[in-house]
Amino acid sequence: MNTSSTRGSKLDGVVVLVTGASSGIGQSVARYLGEIGASVAINYHAQREPAEKLAEELRIGGGSAIALPGDVSQEDDVTKLFENTVEAFGRVDVLVANSGMQKDAPVAEMSLDDWKAVIDVDLTGQFLSCRQAVRQFRNQAKAARPFRSAGSIVSITSVHDRIPWAGHINYAAAKGGARMFVETLAQEVAADGIRVNAVAPGAIRTPINRDVWDDEAALENLMKLIPYGRIGETDDVSKAVAWLASDDADYVTGVTLYVDGGMMLYPSFRDNG
Ligand code: BGC
Repeated sequence: MNTSSTRGSKLDGVVVLVTGASSGIGQSVARYLGEIGASVAINYHAQREPAEKLAEELRIGGGSAIALPGDVSQEDDVTKLFENTVEAFGRVDVLVANSGMQKDAPVAEMSLDDWKAVIDVDLTGQFLSCRQAVRQFRNQAKAARPFRSAGSIVSITSVHDRIPWAGHINYAAAKGGARMFVETLAQEVAADGIRVNAVAPGAIRTPINRDVWDDEAALENLMKLIPYGRIGETDDVSKAVAWLASDDADYVTGVTLYVDGGMMLYPSFRDNG
């Protein structure tokens, strides 16, 4: 880990809460932001160990980090998560609303439980954590702000906020909802000086899609969907999040930044249509 050379960044001293940060994109975002100087609250739901380990690594590297439990689909958990972050770091400046999951099935076979589980985490989790962030940002003293905005939210959505995805109707519906949630929230709280944006990852190498990148034939097939010709790495997403969260993006609100190697460009039309 290389913390010392990156200190003095645009996120130095900024307090960031990352939900769902015990694995995948959330873990990478928490690590990267911690390495460039943010104080990080690393939220986990079930996997305590990797979250604690990451917090410890960041502290050893000279950073400031804490691991905090909480299920973003539960109102009381979310309240507690923010309280604990404030207790540890005195404030919250950035929320990275990342928690998300897939429970895939063709529509006729999808259980109501699996529909609800994904909507609860991927969409209601956005509502609960962003609502709490707005409340927190509004309560904080202006003089103590580490950057220009009164607070910044970065939601991690997906290319499936726009690309329909057969066999994943709960996930696509949640992500499509999250896109409109982000735009509506951005419109509502801009006058408070709060910025709200989304990063929409395409195929990023994480445990959620191991079945496609761990299998040669599936990976080759996936490449037909990615004009840039490679699978994304979690760092590709983390760097976009860092930019959107920082003062460098101070005039940016309500946008979705696709980090997808061109997946949104309808690659099947390249030689067709
Ligand atoms: C999903 C991944 C998928 C990617 C591109 C993401 O939102 O979580 O499983 O590989 O979209 O389809």
